[in-house]
Amino acid sequence: MLISVVGCGYLGAVHAACMAELGHEVVGLDVLPAQVEALSAGQAPFFEPGLPEILSSAGASGRLRFTTDPTAVAGARVHFVCVGTPQRSGEMAADLTYVDAAVESLLPHLAPGDLVVGKSTVPVGTAERLARRVHEVQPEAELVWNPEFLREGKAVQDTLHPDRIVYGVADGPAGERAVTVLDEVYASAIAEGSPRLVGDLATAQLVKVAANSFLATKISFINAMAELCEASGADVTFLADAIGLDERIGRSFLNAGLGFGGGCLPKDIRAFMARAGELGVDQALSFLREVDAINMRRRVRMVDLAREELGGSIQGRRIAVLGSSFKPDSDDVRDSPALSVAAQMSLQGASVVVTDPQAIENSRRKWPDLVFAEDVDDALTGAELVLVLTEWQQYVSLDPTHVAGLVRDKRVLDGRNCLDAAAWRAAGFSYRALGRR
Ligand code: UDX
Repeated sequence: MLISVVGCGYLGAVHAACMAELGHEVVGLDVLPAQVEALSAGQAPFFEPGLPEILSSAGASGRLRFTTDPTAVAGARVHFVCVGTPQRSGEMAADLTYVDAAVESLLPHLAPGDLVVGKSTVPVGTAERLARRVHEVQPEAELVWNPEFLREGKAVQDTLHPDRIVYGVADGPAGERAVTVLDEVYASAIAEGSPRLVGDLATAQLVKVAANSFLATKISFINAMAELCEASGADVTFLADAIGLDERIGRSFLNAGLGFGGGCLPKDIRAFMARAGELGVDQALSFLREVDAINMRRRVRMVDLAREELGGSIQGRRIAVLGSSFKPDSDDVRDSPALSVAAQMSLQGASVVVTDPQAIENSRRKWPDLVFAEDVDDALTGAELVLVLTEWQQYVSLDPTHVAGLVRDKRVLDGRNCLDAAAWRAAGFSYRALGRR
């Protein structure tokens, strides 16, 4: 089946490559020539484990190509809309400029029977509006919603083997036809047993933001418990283990620490609140304001803890920051809690040296005045305080005895509750973490 993918950023590039990997013929369309050039050369424009391999194998098979030419989508039967919906500058709501432009660019090329498939995360009601627009221009084409649940760092695995596939379609024969076509697209995942749920357009759009809101709430819940633990001398990791054994609660997404960041969770909960306001039900989501506030407090607490550890002032003090990406196995620094803490400490006069296995380039673009070290030992050498802010495996498995030989003072703050506290203490470090004694 010939498939077009409009928007080859994070979601689109992974989706296009995975669809080709599954045997479809795919054309990826993007407005940025540099993005198209990199992808055409089989290079991933961002760090994502497994993506370069499938980009080059799919590219070599001749099933995958990328272009800036909008007419290239003509002839495709299924058109995936994979563009970003960032937070509107100075507001909470989502910016739909790219989604609107993507659909408009498809319209002149739609043939009867074509399917436009929205994958971007949008405020509920967007799909209905876009469906009307599609019908105005091509009454025999159909628009459906098929939200994406991939996680950065595991995007290829999540796309090839999704834990669920959700379609939002219109009632009646056109909707039924759309389901048949999508089943063909996702045949291998369905055959593997991925549950496939078919609902209406509104619910499919809501599924994505509801899922992300729940995940954000879970993280902020445990971080609120971390505040209680710190105030009462308790231990939040023990607490999470204990409550997580209740299968109704579950242990995943209960890792207390610096909180959530990235290109999805923070902006999605804000856009969801903004949409609830427009729909006249803002009270229903007022708890998300608190989820956001708890999350942002973690970053302030981390800087405060650094100040406390250094005896009241970070001015001129040499601090090593390990990790600047918003999570491990990603070079993404959008709304990264780690980078935000590093930048705050630097703005407050500390002498901060940041290292990260993949995100230095992106971090430097955001905060050009920060000092970066490619090598973790360089970042650690002479440090009066070590902060582990992103739980990359190489930081988790650092040998504290080796670190002790590099730093000036043996003090470590574990922003992700990821280190072996006993081992660091045994090596002579004063170890502190968010939410633990
Ligand atoms: C998220 C959703 O998980 C995914 O389903 C959706 O499609 C896009 O948004 P992603 O942004 O890649 O994916 O990252 P995720 O793994 O969800 O982590 C988000 C943030 O929460 C990270 O900053 C992470 O460090 C933090 N986090 C996660 C915690 O602080 N504690 C946890 O227990 C889990």
